[in-house]
Amino acid sequence: MINNDIANILITEQELDATVSRLAKEIDRDYAGSDKKLVLLCILKGSIVFTGDLMKKVGVPVEIDCMRVSSYGAGTSSSGNINIVLDVIRPDISECDFLIIEDIIDSGRTLSYLVGYLKHKGARSVKTCTLLDKPSRRVVDFTPDYVGLEIPDEFVVGYGLDYAEKYRALPYVGILKPEVYGGEDA
Ligand code: IMP
Ligand code: MG
Repeated sequence: MINNDIANILITEQELDATVSRLAKEIDRDYAGSDKKLVLLCILKGSIVFTGDLMKKVGVPVEIDCMRVSSYGAGTSSSGNINIVLDVIRPDISECDFLIIEDIIDSGRTLSYLVGYLKHKGARSVKTCTLLDKPSRRVVDFTPDYVGLEIPDEFVVGYGLDYAEKYRALPYVGILKPEVYGGEDA
């Protein structure tokens, strides 16, 4: 059973629902009345579940787009070499307010790279929304515009987040047992 690999549940389904509702309200407040296109940019694959739930709760009109990036490096830490695997291709980038939807910020490299990338492509504006933040792990100075929950330095899975492509379908966010990934205490 997959649940046997989870040390404990860090964020329950109910807490996730309340957190996503709160973020949707903040987004509605900030983008209300805009006559520009708001694009929720889902960063595949980890943000699929979060984006799906968030888009249902946001009241302002949104479009959805996706990007996929990979950062070389196996296991539980990223290397910092960010590679665009799926790009956002649209002719109207200069008319779009992008809100990047990310599952979790760790070093901060992915989001800081993506913000710069979209600005360079001519986006009208770029903001960031992350469900989870591990501020203690930051390598580059980066502050997201919207944060769901700050969490301690633990490797978590579920609600879209994976380890080696597993556990994404869990409805909660759980701490993975270190022995599963050969981490400390393993
Ligand atoms: P950053 O570029 O170091 O901020 O890394 C962000 C990416 O690392 C996220 O999109 C996740 O794919 C991955 N990541 C970081 N921490 C975790 C975790 O605890 N569980 C699963 N993925 C994680
Ligand atoms: Mg990811």
